[in-house]
Amino acid sequence: MFFLDEICFGCYNIFNANYNSKEEIFLFTENDRCMTYEMKNIQEEIIRLKKEKDICILAHSYQAREIIEIADFTGDSYKLSVDASKATSKNILFCGVHFMAETAKILSPDKRVFLSNISAGCPMAEQMTPEYIKSIKEKEPDRAVVAYINTTAALKSVCDVCVTSASAVKIVKAMDAEKILFVPDCNLGAFVKKSVPEKDIMLLNGGCPVHAAVDAEEVHTSRSLHPNALLLVHPECKPEVSNLADYIGSTSGIMNFAKSSDAKEFIIGTEISIAEHLQYECPDKKFYPLSKKITCADMKLTTLMDVYNCCKAIDSGDESDAHEILMTDEEITSARVCIDKMLELGE
Ligand code: 13P
Ligand code: SF4
Repeated sequence: MFFLDEICFGCYNIFNANYNSKEEIFLFTENDRCMTYEMKNIQEEIIRLKKEKDICILAHSYQAREIIEIADFTGDSYKLSVDASKATSKNILFCGVHFMAETAKILSPDKRVFLSNISAGCPMAEQMTPEYIKSIKEKEPDRAVVAYINTTAALKSVCDVCVTSASAVKIVKAMDAEKILFVPDCNLGAFVKKSVPEKDIMLLNGGCPVHAAVDAEEVHTSRSLHPNALLLVHPECKPEVSNLADYIGSTSGIMNFAKSSDAKEFIIGTEISIAEHLQYECPDKKFYPLSKKITCADMKLTTLMDVYNCCKAIDSGDESDAHEILMTDEEITSARVCIDKMLELGE
């Protein structure tokens, strides 16, 4: 019989302990993975609650393995936006960061959308205010404004089109405009600029503090430790890192490349969980995280217990642990324009 009070967090925390290790990073394979009886029970409870309360769980690929396993949809931010727009359940529970749940709410305004850990935000999403973008638009009125999806709904409402890392190049190429202001990530923006040289792309000084923490020296160190490995990096990394890569792509781009490649070893230049998921899914290949610095503390905030507590709280009479995303009709309508444009041009 399973009682929540009896959960042993010793083994449950093994995954998080792994991220904090000061020594070599150890990645689990299917064979050596520690899945406790208690964790399995929590997962089964979540699956039962999902059915009972008509909850669809969307989990970003940066989430821990035990959360990915109980999700209905997993993937990068573009795929999850499309999945959210097609979800048929009454409730959506997002495991990721705040702007992702907000995007799901904008795309599914008639559904109740919840975020499993309300403290999980993306520091980049808060970097620029609508007033700041408006002030630049006044000076550069003929530029179309492209917003990375890692932005607040308020910022999206003053932009023309949204992009994700997977869709940015395709969408910027497809846009009518020749002059573009790309916000907030100057590293993703630099990658787009290089891939679409025919357009005049202006960048601002923003970006992901996690991916931007890595430099070329760490690439050289990692390459010398793993001379046979291909280097796959996310475009949120600095150009000095991306320029040394064998492949640059979004989370799903990196995962698909590694899975379908004939190569056997890979250095993964994005959030550390991606190396872990790949190692788990491809036990015959070897994956080395480029740097422990690419660990997103916000993405790591969500635990399986958060998901359980959220599922339990929904429709329970006391929803204090459910963390519903609440937005006015006006906020939804004004931010939706540029998300719809993304879905139209990204197809
Ligand atoms: P993706 O668009 O690749 O899912 O990345 C989201 C993100 O937050 C990257 O740090
Ligand atoms: Fe934001 Fe960077 Fe974390 Fe992605 S990895 S959620 S961009 S802080």
